[in-house]
Amino acid sequence: MSLMTSLPDGYRALVLGASGTIGRGFVEQLACDDRCSRIERLDRSSVVPLVLEDESAITAAVKSISSHGPFHLILDATGALTIDGHGPEKRLEAIRAHGLTRAFQINAIGRGLILRECIPLLPREERCIFGVLSARVGSISDNQLGGWYGYRASKAAGNMLLQTAAIESHRTRPLAVFAALQPGTVVSTLSEPFSRGHATVTAEQSTIGMLNTLNGLTVRSQAWFVDYKGLSIDW
Ligand SMILES: NC(=O)c1ccc[n+]([C@@H]2O[C@H](COP(=O)([O-])OP(=O)(O)OC[C@H]3O[C@@H](n4cnc5c(N)ncnc54)[C@H](OP(=O)(O)O)[C@@H]3O)[C@@H](O)[C@H]2O)c1
Repeated sequence: MSLMTSLPDGYRALVLGASGTIGRGFVEQLACDDRCSRIERLDRSSVVPLVLEDESAITAAVKSISSHGPFHLILDATGALTIDGHGPEKRLEAIRAHGLTRAFQINAIGRGLILRECIPLLPREERCIFGVLSARVGSISDNQLGGWYGYRASKAAGNMLLQTAAIESHRTRPLAVFAALQPGTVVSTLSEPFSRGHATVTAEQSTIGMLNTLNGLTVRSQAWFVDYKGLSIDW
């Protein structure tokens, strides 16, 4: 059974951050889809490694798989919460320039460069979908609890880069759908230190939910911000 029935038969997929819990989950789901003719994956262990802090590495990694495109489905599942051993800041006094820089490097600048390199790999005249792993805590309007400064801010910045790229790309790729995704609290190394007291989902449940959601999104001139159940999130 295909989850991505809205994409052309024989569609090709690219998963970035394929070594992560959610990235691996996407690859596993797509591998079961007979309508998916090719899955390319990129991560830090790829033959040409995808390293988010290194602009030329991102360019080289994407170039290494570009001849297998165009890709009808591109999923960026990269991102980090605990960085260099430091978890999210609970209070304003805890923020440091270095920690904020690292969060932005990975969750925002890396994302922007991935968008720059990968959007040209989307087809121009067929339906195609670009989904990126955001987080509900990247929503400015939904911020109820405070804390997690660097992660929140870098995810919000990543969302803005996606939104801006989506608006620009709509002019040349009118059938492309762009979405920032909230995967739920997925049982993973990233969430494990912080998931106590939260309802969790498995990577399988989350990735099936996100693929179903992406499959049903309609084309529009802006990006979507949605969770794995298909519910819309305010930016
Ligand atoms: N898990 C959750 O509950 C949850 C909730 C909300 C949002 N999210 C978002 O979902 C995404 C995936 O999360 P996950 O749970 O699958 O985390 P994960 O298992 O830690 O996977 C993160 C992925 O990002 C890659 N990555 C991290 N830093 C990198 C860097 N500097 N350069 C290149 N690649 C880097 C990792 O590569 P390596 O394997 O090489 O480390 C891995 O492929 C993240 O954007 C996260 O913010 C997750």
